[in-house]
Amino acid sequence: MAPGVNGNCWTAALIMAIGLRIHRAHCTDPPEYFLLQQKSECYYTNGTQQVRYVKRIIWGQQEICYYDSDLGFSVARTELGRPFAEHWNSLELLSYLWASVEKFCSYTYRRFKNITVDRRVKPRVKISTLTAEPSHRPSSLVCSATGFYPSKIETKWFKNGQEETAGIVSRQLLQNGDWTFQSHVMLETKPRWGDVYTCQVEHISLQTPISIQWATQSDSAKTKMFTGIVGFILGLSLMVLGLLIYQKNKRGTSLSSRVHHPNRELLGPQVTQLEPVLWR
Ligand SMILES: *[C@@H]1O[C@H](CO)[C@@H](O)[C@H](O)[C@H]1NC(C)=O
Ligand SMILES: *[C@@H]1O[C@H](CO)[C@@H](O)[C@H](O)[C@H]1NC(C)=O
Repeated sequence: MAPGVNGNCWTAALIMAIGLRIHRAHCTDPPEYFLLQQKSECYYTNGTQQVRYVKRIIWGQQEICYYDSDLGFSVARTELGRPFAEHWNSLELLSYLWASVEKFCSYTYRRFKNITVDRRVKPRVKISTLTAEPSHRPSSLVCSATGFYPSKIETKWFKNGQEETAGIVSRQLLQNGDWTFQSHVMLETKPRWGDVYTCQVEHISLQTPISIQWATQSDSAKTKMFTGIVGFILGLSLMVLGLLIYQKNKRGTSLSSRVHHPNRELLGPQVTQLEPVLWR
């Protein structure tokens, strides 16, 4: 692009093209393909207490002109941007730009506050283990909080009630791109028998922090198997004992009530009682 008279001339044509001024420009054509962007930005401090409005014109990847409400007028950044700045600094356009802090920024803030600034989504929290070699005790514990908004979150690790800070080797915050975040905090540690680890998560969406625990016993495969076998044997013995008692009791009652009909034991007691009446 060659700046200068020609550049200015077809910038005027661009202004015309985006509908701001009806004006016939006799000059060289712009390139066949080009990208012209207009961006409006609002900056808020303490809600709408202090609001700044910035409007930019970007040609390709270069900003050529901007308006900043802190200045109150427009500034050209390149030769190509000068006609834009001159146009925006006309009294008609300035009064429109001056009003934008209230009409555009503050209005937008109030209109969308409930789904943006006030948005609160609770995290889900879980602990996972990382083991350097299979069949060994885990060498790291990861506390993951997922699906929350806004992004500010505080995760703490405790070992047997004592906060662990030195062992925290990484803190990761990821933006999912759907207005939710996830965070992963890794604690490097050597769990011993009986140690209890707690992950505590604080977030603005929660009235009280979420605390979840992980203990060494619960993860050892051997303990699990041992508990399972003992439980199974215990359960089986109780069941056999129960069956024996049940059988013993059943035989006792059926002998006394069905003594006259030994071959009709499968029928209910009501039937066995009626039958003698029908036969009479
Ligand atoms: C923030 O704004 C509120 C009114 O919306 C005001 O009462 C408060 O003093 C302001 N805080 C600061 C730090 O400016
Ligand atoms: C947010 O407020 C608008 C009205 O300003 C309302 O129509 C909309 O349903 C609200 N959204 C939520 C998620 O509360």
